[in-house]
Amino acid sequence: MIQNMIQKKSETNRVVNASEANGDSALDQSLRPKNLADYVGQEKIKENLGIFMQAAKGRNEPIEHVLLYGAPGLGKTTLAHVIANEMGVSCRITSGPAIEKAGDLAAILSNLQEGDILFIDEIHRLNKAIEEILYPAMEDYALDIIIGKGPSARTLRIDLPKFTLIGATTKMSALSGPLRDRFGATYHLDFYTTDDIEKILTRSARILNVMIEFEACRHIASRSRRTPRVANRLLKRVRDYAEVRHDGTVTPEISQAALAMLEIDELGLDHIDRKVLLAMLEKFNGGPVGVNSIAAATGEEMATIEDVYEPYLLQLGFIERTPRGRVVTDLARKHLGVAETNRQNALMNYPAAS
Ligand SMILES: Nc1ncnc2c1ncn2[C@@H]1O[C@H](COP(=O)(O)OP(=O)(O)OP(=O)(O)O)[C@@H](O)[C@H]1O
Ligand SMILES: [Mg+2]
Repeated sequence: MIQNMIQKKSETNRVVNASEANGDSALDQSLRPKNLADYVGQEKIKENLGIFMQAAKGRNEPIEHVLLYGAPGLGKTTLAHVIANEMGVSCRITSGPAIEKAGDLAAILSNLQEGDILFIDEIHRLNKAIEEILYPAMEDYALDIIIGKGPSARTLRIDLPKFTLIGATTKMSALSGPLRDRFGATYHLDFYTTDDIEKILTRSARILNVMIEFEACRHIASRSRRTPRVANRLLKRVRDYAEVRHDGTVTPEISQAALAMLEIDELGLDHIDRKVLLAMLEKFNGGPVGVNSIAAATGEEMATIEDVYEPYLLQLGFIERTPRGRVVTDLARKHLGVAETNRQNALMNYPAAS
């Protein structure tokens, strides 16, 4: 139990963790773009959404229900707010786990105004009974309420205002088929290009009043796991370092030293990613090895390895999945050697505190 708590803490404290952590929400709020034009990247989605919204506006109707899916920190919540803003309607926010009883959802739905957006985050975590209330609400804008019990029970149908549901999920596979089918549009948010992350960093630096040199921006961008939330968080940490060790300006040397101190390497891997890879290499000869064995060797939880560390390592091609378990690739072996040398150099090269 205590070990679980410690592990949870170590995970949320990770600078490169893409999930929302303590202290993120204020940062997220201030850096969140408000309209489509400021929303960087995801060009295809923006183009589609633009047409989708303009057509609905032309017909003077709310837009159809939208499902957003993609890894943590890629901008689902941000996009939901952008849509509400562009449509000029208000946005009510809730989440799958926050809706505990059928009555909670009924109350939220019946308090909506015509055209409002209801945003349900982590919609895959809605429980089944509650999900069923959503079906008629989404399809017919109606709420079916059961009055009484047993044979004398009857259903009362209440009309709801025409609203738009925006659901967000990181796990498309956990969403039930019937729910998925009731969305008029589904958008898959992809990881960003390094160019887009640079644009996001430049914009964030301007909002946070941070002087940052071009090369430093590029340096941070390439270590941000192609994820805006990670990029913004790294920028904040590098800013701290620049203020304490320098005059506040983020130069390439400053960002290199700051990220070396945080033990984040060229590809945005941190000490836990490396611990996982090294355990596979040193204790299991590079695999194949099961996730449960990796968990036992590293002291991390199995689910955390699968949901948090592994996706990025797979994406980089550092780990491969085989029927007999996970295997470390040559690419990873090479990277680990080079990264350690570079880290030592960055720390040595940085001039002492001024
Ligand atoms: N396209 C973008 N342009 C600029 N900034 C972005 C973009 N997408 C995300 N961000 C920034 O990244 C932060 C995290 O985004 P957001 O909270 O929307 O992610 P999310 O997909 O909802 O994550 P989670 O799955 O954890 O809920 C935001 O505060 C915002 O500043
Ligand atoms: Mg979110």
